[in-house]
Amino acid sequence: MSDKTADRTAATAPHPVLKKYYESASERRPFVSALFDNAAKHYDWVCAMGSLGSGRFYRGWVLTQSGLRNGMKFLDIATGTGLVARAATHVLREPRAVVGLDPSAGMLREARKALAVPLVQGIVEDLPFTTNHFDFLCMGYALRHVTDLGVAFRECRRVLKPGGRLLILEISLPSSAVGQRVFRLYFESVLPLLTRLSTGSGEAELLMKYYWDTIAHCVPSDQILDVLRASAFAGVTRRVRGGMLNEYIALKPAC
Ligand SMILES: C[S@@+](CC[C@H](N)C(=O)[O-])C[C@H]1O[C@@H](n2cnc3c(N)ncnc32)[C@H](O)[C@@H]1O
Repeated sequence: MSDKTADRTAATAPHPVLKKYYESASERRPFVSALFDNAAKHYDWVCAMGSLGSGRFYRGWVLTQSGLRNGMKFLDIATGTGLVARAATHVLREPRAVVGLDPSAGMLREARKALAVPLVQGIVEDLPFTTNHFDFLCMGYALRHVTDLGVAFRECRRVLKPGGRLLILEISLPSSAVGQRVFRLYFESVLPLLTRLSTGSGEAELLMKYYWDTIAHCVPSDQILDVLRASAFAGVTRRVRGGMLNEYIALKPAC
């Protein structure tokens, strides 16, 4: 898709309107909800293919690396089928310490099959929790789907306790030209085709095509870091693994 068909909607939108999929910014949320609802039962499979099977291990590992510890109250924002929440229950060993939130009824239905933690339907831009409630928030691979980064980050900050921590996991294009070519070939062409062949689902294939386009058009990481700082987070940092796995960490100041 060319940049001519994409117009930037707002300074902190994670990517421009993608006219290949929907016409205006207001159509983005219903499009994304339907996309995940329709592909939910295939999500874990396509996710495993996308990460070459490493996704489950990585989610648990990165939570402990980022400071998740026993005794913490944890919110998995955009829990989807619950992959991050499942990893958190293994770390915390206390299912009541973990809450999952997602707008997609289809994804939550899948999550309920494997998770015995509270699951709440909602969006990150309007979290249905009291102020100063959680010690640790994680939002995995959903930053590209929010309406406005600033609104989302300020809401995350609100529900965190003072001293609490936000971890955002996100994929980005590798920095090297060769890496970008390989990544593009796999995510734009190979993965959607593999998804179609292995699931027989056009909806799962569409999810993977959209996945590629949102990564290709996502705002740069420096802009994400700037919006986190402007949302009154402290200690804002970004780690990158393998050139494309991004971990944004931000702390709510203790007072
Ligand atoms: C790619 S899935 C990620 C699921 C899970 N976090 C993981 O690690 O696999 C993205 C999820 O974000 C959810 N989502 C989309 N828009 C959202 C929003 N505004 N607030 C919270 N979650 C949202 C979708 O319904 C979907 O389940």
